[in-house]
Parts: sequence; structure tokens; C-alpha cells
Amino acid sequence: MRFFIDTAEVSEVRTADELGLVDGVTTNPSLVASSGREYRDVVAELDEFVDGPISVEVIATEAEEMLVEAREYDTWGDDIAVKFPMTREGMTALSQATAEGIDSNVTLVFSANQALLAAKNGATFVSPFLGRLDDIGSDGVELVREIREIYDVHGFDTEILAASIRHPSHVKAVAKVGADVATLPPSVLDQLFDHPKTDEGLAAFLDDWGDRESPAVRELQGADDD
Ligand code: G3P
Repeated sequence: MRFFIDTAEVSEVRTADELGLVDGVTTNPSLVASSGREYRDVVAELDEFVDGPISVEVIATEAEEMLVEAREYDTWGDDIAVKFPMTREGMTALSQATAEGIDSNVTLVFSANQALLAAKNGATFVSPFLGRLDDIGSDGVELVREIREIYDVHGFDTEILAASIRHPSHVKAVAKVGADVATLPPSVLDQLFDHPKTDEGLAAFLDDWGDRESPAVRELQGADDD
């Protein structure tokens, strides 16, 4: 399962990239607005080092204006996925964008039927929003499982990009039901590393070893002494 980073803060993407864990980036108007930067500047900086799709979301709500934006955003980097909202106008724009070879990410998806519409229109990615479904007492993970079943039965190439990920249990759950990608807030990515037994075990290893040098250091010191 690939990890995209869900943020418009370039520094956070750089940190995750240093861990070798960035397969792409997703942005949205809220994330870019909170960054306080121009959308194009954020994308240009990400494009310098991100080796994978960068999702850039249209702002317009009418199909023709969405397409104007999509054609522009498609030039903003080597691997851009234009985000279209799951609306009638968004699907109209998506259909034409697909015909023009523009990669896409259909966002704000909350039902299996919406995901089916996105796939039928040739979406590159579909973004079911797990956290926002959980917020209203629905089951976001079950939605991903349903989409996986439908896409596999009918052989759709659209990739499931699990979004609105709120905690590590979402990551495990969508990995188990077959999401192709999860887009993680940096805080959730960071939480994946931690377990108290890991910290405890490492402390015990080091305590048992004591203050002796590592075998490699001793070999190297021996080589220097020879
Ligand atoms: O990319 C979609 C994602 O940012 C939405 O997450 O937490 O705002 O529901 P959230």
C-alpha cells in the first residue's frame, strides 16, 4: 500500500520523504489556505522532490471552469492528479479530462455508488473520506471494502486512495481491506512508528550491552591500531 502525505506544508513532506515514506502528496483548498501560501508555489516546491502524484484540487463548481483549471494544473508538475469533487459538474469535467489524458482524483466520496461513477468516468484515483463518515456514525472502512469489491468484480483500474485518515487504526484497517493508497496527515504517519514495547526492548538491549563499544567500532579501531 502506498502512502501519500496529506498536507500543504512542504516541510512536513520533506520530513516524511527523509524517512523514505512519500509515494505522493494530496492537497485540498483547506490545507493550502492554512499554509498561507500560493497554491502554485506549494506545488512547484513539492514537485522539486516528490517522486509520485501530487493532487491539486479545482476551485470552480461548473464543469467548463473546472476543465480550464485542470488543464492549467496539469502543467504544474511532472505527475499531477487533478482533484474533482464528486458532483455532476465534477463528473462532467472528469469525463473530458480523462479523454484529454489528465490524471484525476475524485474527492469527497462517501458512497460506493459515488465511487462507481468515478471509476466509470475513468478516474485515476477515488478518495473515500473515512474520518468524516466515522464522524456521523457511519463506517468509513466498510466503504473502502465495498469499493474494493466493486472495482475487483468489474476490473476497474481506478485506485482507491483512502482519505480523511484520523488515526493509525484507520491505516491498518484500509490496508487489510485492500486500499491502494492511504493519504496520511503527518501526525498520523508519525504515530505509526511508536510502540512502548519497542522503546522498552531497545532500552533493555542497551542496558545489557553496557558501555562497551559496538563490535564494528572495535574492528575499525583495531584496523586503525594495526
Ligand atoms: O485530502 C482529503 C483530506 O484532507 C480530508 O481530511 O480530516 O479534513 O476529513 P479531513
